[in-house]
Amino acid sequence: MEYFKLGKNGRIPILGYGTWRIGGAQEPDRSQDDYYIKALRKAFEVGYTLIDTAEYYGGGHTEELIAKALEGFNREDFFITSKVWPNHLQYNDVLKSADASLKRLQTKYLDLYLIHWPNPQIPISETVRALEDLVDLGKVRYIGVSNFNINELKEATESVRRHEIVANQVRYSVLNKSNVEPELLSYAKQNNIRIIAYTPLEKGKMSHPLLTELASKYNKTVNQIALNYLICREAVPIPKAVREEHIIENFNAIGWRLNPEDVEKLSKLA
Ligand SMILES: NC(=O)c1ccc[n+]([C@@H]2O[C@H](COP(=O)([O-])OP(=O)(O)OC[C@H]3O[C@@H](n4cnc5c(N)ncnc54)[C@H](OP(=O)(O)O)[C@@H]3O)[C@@H](O)[C@H]2O)c1
Repeated sequence: MEYFKLGKNGRIPILGYGTWRIGGAQEPDRSQDDYYIKALRKAFEVGYTLIDTAEYYGGGHTEELIAKALEGFNREDFFITSKVWPNHLQYNDVLKSADASLKRLQTKYLDLYLIHWPNPQIPISETVRALEDLVDLGKVRYIGVSNFNINELKEATESVRRHEIVANQVRYSVLNKSNVEPELLSYAKQNNIRIIAYTPLEKGKMSHPLLTELASKYNKTVNQIALNYLICREAVPIPKAVREEHIIENFNAIGWRLNPEDVEKLSKLA
């Protein structure tokens, strides 16, 4: 696995594995557990090490399935991201949510813990204080946010006392980038904040003549070009895939790079 820098001294895999709708959407759906555990294990065998999840996913059941799938693997080889839901952003609730995620994931620590969405009702400084305490307690290695615009991101970084906000996870794909490029992306770069790109494949509906042209030029697929573009932008895409052929196809978006002229052409799309 290749890595990007994370914060001042850390590192993050350049490609991750999304888990939304694995084991249910907002509520647990236990009817296909074996199927999902098999898919997760396949992804780990193929080489994904960054797992993106949240307490919200499957009403917590997604985290339980990840724990089951990780049995027999070495925890230290993985980079687990989870997120705290916006109605749990008061100090004590953050600590409770983190403990519940740790328990469901059967792990002693999260590699990255994100505020899933901003909540203007709760001072960001209160939530950040809880996140920093979780780092001090050894329950979380890095902290960050998700779905924050530049102003919200500024407020969050200004609230930090002892640690750093290392990431902002936002919706970002080669066909949907106007909320990221250029402002948020360059603000993040200047402030050492890694952009993590969710819905990087537009939910499996990635399609554009330029992508088709480049797929043929590089002998790759349209989805691989789309993911590689984000990596060339130094963002971390976290595609979700349950089907084995998708898991493998997406993993082969790494190990090579588009040339800068083609990145430039793609940057003009959408
Ligand atoms: N922070 C947030 O608020 C937030 C919001 C949304 C998502 N996320 C995270 O980001 C992850 C990814 O986003 P997403 O799930 O919304 O969308 P996505 O990754 O863009 O798309 C997932 C869909 O695309 C299909 N797919 C995957 N690879 C494919 C391929 N190579 N060819 C054709 N179809 C393919 C999948 O099918 P199969 O599963 O059938 O293989 C699935 O239906 C989520 O799972 C979640 O972890 C975070």
